[in-house]
Amino acid sequence: MNAPRNTQYRHLEAHRIAGSAGAIIEGIDLSQELSDEVLNEVRAALLDNCVIFFRDQKITPAQQLAFARRWGDIHLHPFMEGMPDYPEILEIVKLPTDKKNFGGSWHTDQMFSPAPAMGTILYALEVPSAGGDTMFTNQYLAYESLSEAMRKMLDGLKVVCVGDNFKQHGGKSRKDRYSDVMSQMKVRDPGNVQTTSVHPLVRTHPETGRKSLFVGGHVQHFDGMTDEESQPLLDFLMKHSIRPEFTCRFRWETGSLAFWDNRCVQHFAVNDYPAETRIMHRITIQGDVPY
Ligand code: SIN
Repeated sequence: MNAPRNTQYRHLEAHRIAGSAGAIIEGIDLSQELSDEVLNEVRAALLDNCVIFFRDQKITPAQQLAFARRWGDIHLHPFMEGMPDYPEILEIVKLPTDKKNFGGSWHTDQMFSPAPAMGTILYALEVPSAGGDTMFTNQYLAYESLSEAMRKMLDGLKVVCVGDNFKQHGGKSRKDRYSDVMSQMKVRDPGNVQTTSVHPLVRTHPETGRKSLFVGGHVQHFDGMTDEESQPLLDFLMKHSIRPEFTCRFRWETGSLAFWDNRCVQHFAVNDYPAETRIMHRITIQGDVPY
């Protein structure tokens, strides 16, 4: 079953961009403080569509932060340095000379934290002439489209998620991986912050009550199983969870802002703009312990 699509809003319009997820929201100026009533409608739109997009927003870092704080505390990235004046904002920069991009694999944000990010608010300051889109995939649909027997088997499993994700990157830490190919991304030492966590593979969304698959690039193996035992099922789930019919793809413009719900989507930043620059400001909002 797809997400509900016929919610009546009084203060905004939502236009779906794909059958399974994603809507462009019209009628909202994020530079202004939103009333509780309007914010509740934005929340409803987010829950209905899993990811929402706003065009032509002119906001300062302080205004982006003020909007983000309406949703909860800010989740600081344990491995990535924020902006000097706004440590809560991660500036994501890819220069023409950078070979890789930040977020260029399917994942959900900070899944390795004990309480991963509930949502992410990403604002575009400079975008390439073509390319640099972000893709999203609806993890409610990924779960609901599995057979009953498969769902039953998955319901009891737990995933071990690792922030430095050394398995998929030939043993290299983030610092080693990023320095040559993502020159502007500043990696920091997480210190005592917990960056390995065990979560249910099937999580229940605390607001909608729907179950979704909780997988992504940070998953190393199933709790209590070896890598060898885990890998075939993980491979299947990763492939299944990104089936084209679960996805949408957003074409950025300067001033676009995306707000996605990490509790029910994975996302992927497409790296298809060599020799161009892309600059984004990202804020993640603290989430709950998944159950
Ligand atoms: C991210 O994974 O948070 C980055 C997404 C993007 O830059 O499109």
